[in-house]
Amino acid sequence: MGDLAIEVTGLRKSFGDLAVLKGVDFAVKSGSVTALLGVNGAGKTTLVSILTTVLPPDSGTAVVAGFDVVREPAKARQAFAVTGQHVTIDAVLTGLENLALIARLRHVPKPKQVAAALIGQFGLTEAAGKPAGTYSGGMKRRLDIAMSLIGEPEIIFLDEPTTGLDPAGRRDVWAFIGELAHHGTTIVLTTQYMEEAAALADTIALLHQGVIAAQGDQAAILKSAGDAPDLEAAFFALTETEAAS
Ligand SMILES: Nc1ncnc2c1ncn2[C@@H]1O[C@H](COP(=O)(O)OP(=O)(O)OP(=O)(O)O)[C@@H](O)[C@H]1O
Ligand SMILES: [Mg+2]
Repeated sequence: MGDLAIEVTGLRKSFGDLAVLKGVDFAVKSGSVTALLGVNGAGKTTLVSILTTVLPPDSGTAVVAGFDVVREPAKARQAFAVTGQHVTIDAVLTGLENLALIARLRHVPKPKQVAAALIGQFGLTEAAGKPAGTYSGGMKRRLDIAMSLIGEPEIIFLDEPTTGLDPAGRRDVWAFIGELAHHGTTIVLTTQYMEEAAALADTIALLHQGVIAAQGDQAAILKSAGDAPDLEAAFFALTETEAAS
């Protein structure tokens, strides 16, 4: 894989009459943490779905880990894992069984050991043997993220990884994301929390009205919002100015 883990050019996607992505250009450097910001309905999940081969784009190109997601989806899929906005665990299986199942599906050696290690790492040891359907929202979210780490993918997509978590749970997830980034995993996360983007991301991309309205490090984003004092102010400034035009 080259310098860029993800390269998106002129990506368009409509649902019927609703044009959601209107020519998205977007690049993610290998080993970086990129936060994709945007108001509700901006198209963040749509973009992530295209990048993870769940949805086909109408036009434009998206290359993930060197593979075009339309022409070589199977190869692209081997390079990434995704934790969706909506939890995807099996409610009948225990936490441990959920993890071991994914480990087997991904042909990871010693699936049971891998599952047990992740259960411990994500603070789910006491609940390991209980059906995941009985977990709290925060526990389900942690299990879901643990599942995405199996097989050590080079790129991880996290769609609102901390939505619905209490402050302690959020801090735990931040620590895991920081650790992954430290090991060189490329991370793309969407979030509604500006402090999350500020804490984790080295690159921020703002999706607004169907295009990437701003992309860069935090300082660049503040500058492009007319020297906004913080990311939250920048977010409001950029989403308001654009809306007025
Ligand atoms: N399968 C679909 N069919 C029709 N419309 C859709 C579909 N998926 C998404 N949309 C619409 O596309 C727009 C973008 O949705 P999307 O879920 O990508 O936004 P988002 O930025 O992830 O929002 P949120 O912050 O609420 O998660 C919304 O108006 C949504 O209603
Ligand atoms: Mg979404």
